[in-house]
Amino acid sequence: MNLGWWWRLFAGALAGFLFFHGFAATETAPNYSFMYDATSASTLSYYDYIIVGGGTAGCMSDNPMNAVFIPSPLPVEVSLIQVVGITHFGSYIEAASGENFAGGASSSPAVEYMNNLDETTFRGGFILEKVMGPISTGHLELRTRNPNDNPSVTFNYFKDPQDLQRCVQGIQTIEKIIESKAFFRFRYEFLSWPILLNMTANAPLNLLPKHYNPSMPLEVFCKDTVMTIWHYHGGCQVGKVVDLDYKVLGVDALRVIDGSTFNDSPGTNPQATVMMLGRYMGVKILSERLAN
Ligand SMILES: *[C@@H]1O[C@H](CO)[C@@H](O)[C@H](O)[C@H]1NC(C)=O
Ligand SMILES: *[C@@H]1O[C@H](CO)[C@@H](O)[C@H](O)[C@H]1NC(C)=O
Repeated sequence: MNLGWWWRLFAGALAGFLFFHGFAATETAPNYSFMYDATSASTLSYYDYIIVGGGTAGCMSDNPMNAVFIPSPLPVEVSLIQVVGITHFGSYIEAASGENFAGGASSSPAVEYMNNLDETTFRGGFILEKVMGPISTGHLELRTRNPNDNPSVTFNYFKDPQDLQRCVQGIQTIEKIIESKAFFRFRYEFLSWPILLNMTANAPLNLLPKHYNPSMPLEVFCKDTVMTIWHYHGGCQVGKVVDLDYKVLGVDALRVIDGSTFNDSPGTNPQATVMMLGRYMGVKILSERLAN
Protein backbone atom coordinates (compact mmCIF):
# COMPACT_ATOMS: atom_id res chain seq x y z
CA MET A 1 0.00 0.00 0.00
CA ASN A 2 1.22 3.44 -0.90
CA LEU A 3 1.09 6.00 1.89
CA GLY A 4 1.30 8.89 -0.58
CA TRP A 5 -2.06 7.94 -2.06
CA TRP A 6 -3.53 7.68 1.41
CA TRP A 7 -2.12 11.00 2.20
CA ARG A 8 -4.06 12.67 -0.63
CA LEU A 9 -7.27 10.96 0.43
CA PHE A 10 -6.68 11.93 3.99
CA ALA A 11 -5.97 15.58 3.18
CA GLY A 12 -9.15 15.72 1.05
CA ALA A 13 -11.34 14.30 3.78
CA LEU A 14 -9.85 16.63 6.34
CA ALA A 15 -10.49 19.53 3.97
CA GLY A 16 -14.16 18.48 3.74
CA PHE A 17 -14.52 18.31 7.47
CA LEU A 18 -12.82 21.62 8.14
CA PHE A 19 -14.83 23.24 5.40
CA PHE A 20 -18.05 21.96 6.91
CA HIS A 21 -16.94 23.60 10.08
CA GLY A 22 -16.51 26.93 8.33
CA PHE A 23 -12.91 26.74 7.22
CA ALA A 24 -12.06 27.27 3.57
CA ALA A 25 -8.77 25.86 2.43
CA THR A 26 -8.09 28.95 0.35
CA GLU A 27 -8.48 31.39 3.19
CA THR A 28 -5.79 32.35 5.65
CA ALA A 29 -6.13 30.88 9.12
CA PRO A 30 -7.77 33.00 11.77
CA ASN A 31 -5.37 34.23 14.42
CA TYR A 32 -6.08 31.74 17.21
CA SER A 33 -2.92 32.50 19.13
CA PHE A 34 -3.89 30.49 22.16
CA MET A 35 -0.98 31.67 24.25
CA TYR A 36 -1.88 35.35 24.03
CA ASP A 37 -2.59 36.64 27.49
CA ALA A 38 -6.10 38.05 28.04
CA THR A 39 -5.09 39.42 31.40
CA SER A 40 -3.02 42.05 29.61
CA ALA A 41 -6.29 43.56 28.32
CA SER A 42 -7.04 46.82 30.06
CA THR A 43 -9.67 46.90 32.79
CA LEU A 44 -12.98 48.42 31.71
CA SER A 45 -13.66 51.59 33.60
CA TYR A 46 -15.96 53.12 30.98
CA TYR A 47 -18.79 51.71 28.91
CA ASP A 48 -17.22 51.82 25.50
CA TYR A 49 -17.09 48.14 24.66
CA ILE A 50 -13.91 47.96 22.65
CA ILE A 51 -12.80 44.79 24.40
CA VAL A 52 -15.50 42.20 25.01
CA GLY A 53 -14.74 39.64 27.65
CA GLY A 54 -11.36 41.15 28.47
CA GLY A 55 -10.39 42.94 31.64
CA THR A 56 -12.96 42.71 34.41
CA ALA A 57 -15.50 40.96 32.18
CA GLY A 58 -12.90 38.35 31.07
CA CYS A 59 -14.99 35.29 30.30
CA MET A 60 -15.04 34.86 26.54
CA SER A 61 -14.37 31.20 25.74
CA ASP A 62 -14.21 28.70 22.95
CA ASN A 63 -14.18 24.96 23.49
CA PRO A 64 -11.00 23.55 22.00
CA MET A 65 -11.66 20.70 19.57
CA ASN A 66 -9.22 18.05 18.35
CA ALA A 67 -10.27 15.55 15.69
CA VAL A 68 -8.72 12.37 14.27
CA PHE A 69 -9.68 11.12 10.79
CA ILE A 70 -9.92 7.35 10.35
CA PRO A 71 -10.21 6.11 6.74
CA SER A 72 -12.40 2.99 6.44
CA PRO A 73 -12.14 0.05 4.01
CA LEU A 74 -15.94 -0.35 4.23
CA PRO A 75 -18.51 2.28 3.32
CA VAL A 76 -19.87 3.82 6.51
CA GLU A 77 -23.17 5.43 7.30
CA VAL A 78 -23.41 9.11 6.41
CA SER A 79 -23.81 10.77 9.74
CA LEU A 80 -23.35 14.07 11.40
CA ILE A 81 -22.88 14.04 15.16
CA GLN A 82 -25.71 11.96 16.64
CA VAL A 83 -24.36 10.41 19.79
CA VAL A 84 -22.18 12.24 22.26
CA GLY A 85 -19.99 10.53 24.82
CA ILE A 86 -19.92 12.39 28.13
CA THR A 87 -16.78 11.50 30.04
CA HIS A 88 -16.04 11.82 33.75
CA PHE A 89 -12.87 13.82 33.12
CA GLY A 90 -14.33 16.82 31.31
CA SER A 91 -14.46 16.29 27.58
CA TYR A 92 -17.11 15.20 25.09
CA ILE A 93 -16.43 12.53 22.45
CA GLU A 94 -18.29 12.94 19.14
CA ALA A 95 -18.14 11.51 15.62
CA ALA A 96 -19.11 12.40 12.05
CA SER A 97 -18.73 10.08 9.08
CA GLY A 98 -19.16 9.06 5.48
CA GLU A 99 -19.68 12.31 3.65
CA ASN A 100 -18.06 15.18 1.83
CA PHE A 101 -19.43 17.77 4.20
CA ALA A 102 -18.73 20.51 1.68
CA GLY A 103 -21.43 19.07 -0.62
CA GLY A 104 -24.26 21.53 -1.25
CA ALA A 105 -22.23 24.49 0.00
CA SER A 106 -22.04 27.48 -2.30
CA SER A 107 -19.30 27.36 -4.90
CA SER A 108 -15.75 28.28 -3.97
CA PRO A 109 -12.32 26.93 -4.95
CA ALA A 110 -12.30 24.78 -1.78
CA VAL A 111 -15.72 23.26 -2.56
CA GLU A 112 -14.73 22.58 -6.17
CA TYR A 113 -11.54 20.91 -5.02
CA MET A 114 -13.46 18.64 -2.70
CA ASN A 115 -16.22 17.86 -5.18
CA ASN A 116 -13.58 16.64 -7.64
CA LEU A 117 -12.15 14.11 -5.21
CA ASP A 118 -13.00 10.45 -5.45
CA GLU A 119 -15.87 9.53 -3.14
CA THR A 120 -13.68 6.95 -1.38
CA THR A 121 -11.86 9.97 0.05
CA PHE A 122 -14.75 10.43 2.41
CA ARG A 123 -15.09 6.78 3.33
CA GLY A 124 -14.36 6.86 7.01
CA GLY A 125 -15.01 9.36 9.68
CA PHE A 126 -13.83 11.75 12.31
CA ILE A 127 -13.83 11.12 15.98
CA LEU A 128 -13.30 14.28 17.91
CA GLU A 129 -13.17 15.49 21.44
CA LYS A 130 -14.38 18.83 22.73
CA VAL A 131 -13.13 20.13 26.07
CA MET A 132 -15.96 21.03 28.48
CA GLY A 133 -16.18 24.57 29.79
CA PRO A 134 -13.40 25.37 28.99
CA ILE A 135 -11.56 26.84 31.97
CA SER A 136 -9.25 29.01 29.83
CA THR A 137 -10.75 32.34 28.81
CA GLY A 138 -9.85 34.97 26.26
CA HIS A 139 -11.25 38.10 24.73
CA LEU A 140 -12.57 39.74 21.61
CA GLU A 141 -11.25 43.07 20.44
CA LEU A 142 -12.70 45.40 17.84
CA ARG A 143 -10.14 46.42 15.25
CA THR A 144 -12.20 49.34 13.98
CA ARG A 145 -15.58 50.97 14.61
CA ASN A 146 -16.95 49.56 11.35
CA PRO A 147 -19.43 46.81 12.31
CA ASN A 148 -18.66 44.97 9.04
CA ASP A 149 -15.01 44.45 9.94
CA ASN A 150 -14.00 41.22 11.66
CA PRO A 151 -12.92 41.62 15.25
CA SER A 152 -9.73 40.10 16.60
CA VAL A 153 -10.41 37.11 18.86
CA THR A 154 -8.00 35.40 21.22
CA PHE A 155 -9.24 32.27 22.99
CA ASN A 156 -6.11 31.23 24.88
CA TYR A 157 -6.76 27.54 24.19
CA PHE A 158 -5.10 25.31 26.81
CA LYS A 159 -3.84 28.26 28.85
CA ASP A 160 -5.18 26.40 31.88
CA PRO A 161 -3.31 23.07 32.23
CA GLN A 162 -6.57 21.30 33.14
CA ASP A 163 -7.94 21.99 29.66
CA LEU A 164 -4.82 20.43 28.13
CA GLN A 165 -5.17 17.42 30.41
CA ARG A 166 -8.81 16.97 29.32
CA CYS A 167 -7.71 17.04 25.69
CA VAL A 168 -5.07 14.38 26.34
CA GLN A 169 -7.60 12.16 28.11
CA GLY A 170 -10.08 12.73 25.27
CA ILE A 171 -7.50 11.67 22.67
CA GLN A 172 -6.66 8.60 24.78
CA THR A 173 -10.36 7.73 24.81
CA ILE A 174 -10.49 8.01 21.01
CA GLU A 175 -7.52 5.63 20.85
CA LYS A 176 -9.41 3.10 22.98
CA ILE A 177 -12.42 3.38 20.67
CA ILE A 178 -10.53 2.78 17.45
CA GLU A 179 -8.37 0.01 18.96
CA SER A 180 -11.54 -1.81 20.07
CA LYS A 181 -12.71 -5.05 18.46
CA ALA A 182 -15.94 -3.41 17.29
CA PHE A 183 -13.97 -0.84 15.30
CA PHE A 184 -11.67 -3.37 13.65
CA ARG A 185 -13.59 -3.64 10.36
CA PHE A 186 -13.67 0.12 9.90
CA ARG A 187 -9.95 0.84 9.83
CA TYR A 188 -6.90 -0.19 7.87
CA GLU A 189 -4.46 -2.30 9.80
CA PHE A 190 -1.42 -0.55 8.29
CA LEU A 191 -2.67 2.85 9.42
CA SER A 192 -1.64 2.49 13.04
CA TRP A 193 -2.77 4.90 15.73
CA PRO A 194 0.56 6.82 15.73
CA ILE A 195 0.36 7.19 11.92
CA LEU A 196 -3.23 8.46 12.11
CA LEU A 197 -2.20 11.07 14.68
CA ASN A 198 0.85 12.05 12.66
CA MET A 199 -1.26 12.50 9.53
CA THR A 200 -3.73 14.71 11.36
CA ALA A 201 -0.99 16.84 12.91
CA ASN A 202 0.93 17.23 9.65
CA ALA A 203 -2.01 17.77 7.28
CA PRO A 204 -1.23 20.66 4.92
CA LEU A 205 -4.52 22.27 5.91
CA ASN A 206 -3.37 22.58 9.47
CA LEU A 207 -1.87 26.06 9.47
CA LEU A 208 -0.80 26.02 13.10
CA PRO A 209 2.94 25.68 13.78
CA LYS A 210 3.73 21.95 13.59
CA HIS A 211 5.98 20.18 16.07
CA TYR A 212 4.31 16.81 16.54
CA ASN A 213 5.81 13.49 15.59
CA PRO A 214 4.77 10.09 16.99
CA SER A 215 7.53 10.07 19.63
CA MET A 216 6.08 13.16 21.28
CA PRO A 217 3.52 13.35 24.09
CA LEU A 218 -0.15 13.92 23.33
CA GLU A 219 0.08 17.40 24.84
CA VAL A 220 2.04 18.42 21.73
CA PHE A 221 -0.58 16.79 19.49
CA CYS A 222 -3.35 18.72 21.29
CA LYS A 223 -1.60 22.07 20.87
CA ASP A 224 -0.64 21.42 17.24
CA THR A 225 -4.12 20.36 16.07
CA VAL A 226 -6.50 22.41 18.19
CA MET A 227 -9.30 24.12 16.31
CA THR A 228 -12.60 25.71 17.04
CA ILE A 229 -15.89 23.83 17.11
CA TRP A 230 -17.63 27.19 16.58
CA HIS A 231 -19.20 27.24 20.04
CA TYR A 232 -17.81 30.59 21.21
CA HIS A 233 -19.55 31.87 24.29
CA GLY A 234 -19.30 34.06 27.34
CA GLY A 235 -18.40 37.45 25.80
CA CYS A 236 -21.47 39.11 27.40
CA GLN A 237 -21.88 37.10 30.55
CA VAL A 238 -24.85 37.67 32.81
CA GLY A 239 -23.73 39.77 35.77
CA LYS A 240 -20.62 41.02 33.97
CA VAL A 241 -21.67 42.62 30.69
CA VAL A 242 -25.47 42.14 30.80
CA ASP A 243 -27.77 42.19 33.82
CA LEU A 244 -30.28 39.48 34.84
CA ASP A 245 -32.69 40.77 32.14
CA TYR A 246 -29.93 40.56 29.52
CA LYS A 247 -29.71 44.37 29.32
CA VAL A 248 -26.21 45.63 28.54
CA LEU A 249 -24.88 47.37 31.64
CA GLY A 250 -24.53 51.09 31.16
CA VAL A 251 -26.33 51.15 27.79
CA ASP A 252 -29.97 52.26 27.36
CA ALA A 253 -32.34 49.91 25.51
CA LEU A 254 -29.92 47.23 24.37
CA ARG A 255 -30.15 43.54 25.23
CA VAL A 256 -27.94 40.66 24.19
CA ILE A 257 -29.64 37.26 24.13
CA ASP A 258 -27.41 34.62 22.57
CA GLY A 259 -24.54 32.26 23.33
CA SER A 260 -22.34 35.16 24.39
CA THR A 261 -24.37 35.29 27.64
CA PHE A 262 -23.57 31.65 28.57
CA ASN A 263 -21.27 30.70 31.42
CA ASP A 264 -20.74 27.31 29.77
CA SER A 265 -21.44 25.95 26.31
CA PRO A 266 -23.67 22.86 26.29
CA GLY A 267 -22.25 19.48 25.26
CA THR A 268 -22.94 19.58 21.52
CA ASN A 269 -24.20 22.20 19.08
CA PRO A 270 -25.60 25.06 21.15
CA GLN A 271 -28.31 26.24 18.73
CA ALA A 272 -31.26 24.52 20.49
CA THR A 273 -30.21 26.13 23.77
CA VAL A 274 -29.81 29.52 22.08
CA MET A 275 -33.25 29.20 20.44
CA MET A 276 -34.88 28.24 23.74
CA LEU A 277 -33.28 31.21 25.46
CA GLY A 278 -34.39 33.56 22.65
CA ARG A 279 -37.94 32.19 22.71
CA TYR A 280 -38.14 32.39 26.49
CA MET A 281 -36.83 35.95 26.67
CA GLY A 282 -38.92 37.05 23.65
CA VAL A 283 -42.13 35.87 25.34
CA LYS A 284 -41.06 37.45 28.63
CA ILE A 285 -40.27 40.84 27.06
CA LEU A 286 -43.54 40.86 25.10
CA SER A 287 -45.65 39.99 28.12
CA GLU A 288 -43.94 42.71 30.18
CA ARG A 289 -44.71 45.25 27.45
CA LEU A 290 -48.33 44.15 27.14
CA ALA A 291 -48.75 44.43 30.91
CA ASN A 292 -47.69 48.11 30.83
C1 LIG B 1 -2.25 37.28 16.75
O1 LIG B 1 -2.88 38.18 17.62
C2 LIG B 1 -2.11 38.57 18.75
C3 LIG B 1 -3.00 39.41 19.63
O2 LIG B 1 -3.67 40.42 18.91
C4 LIG B 1 -0.84 39.30 18.26
O3 LIG B 1 -0.03 39.65 19.37
C5 LIG B 1 -0.06 38.39 17.34
O4 LIG B 1 1.05 39.07 16.82
C6 LIG B 1 -0.95 37.89 16.20
N1 LIG B 1 -0.23 36.90 15.41
C7 LIG B 1 -0.22 36.94 14.08
C8 LIG B 1 0.55 35.83 13.42
O5 LIG B 1 -0.79 37.80 13.43
C1 LIG C 1 4.97 12.11 10.20
O1 LIG C 1 4.49 12.92 9.12
C2 LIG C 1 5.52 13.62 8.44
C3 LIG C 1 4.83 14.53 7.40
O2 LIG C 1 4.03 13.79 6.51
C4 LIG C 1 6.50 12.64 7.81
O3 LIG C 1 7.54 13.35 7.17
C5 LIG C 1 7.06 11.73 8.90
O4 LIG C 1 7.88 10.75 8.30
C6 LIG C 1 5.94 11.06 9.66
N1 LIG C 1 6.52 10.31 10.77
C7 LIG C 1 6.18 9.04 11.01
C8 LIG C 1 6.92 8.39 12.14
O5 LIG C 1 5.32 8.45 10.37
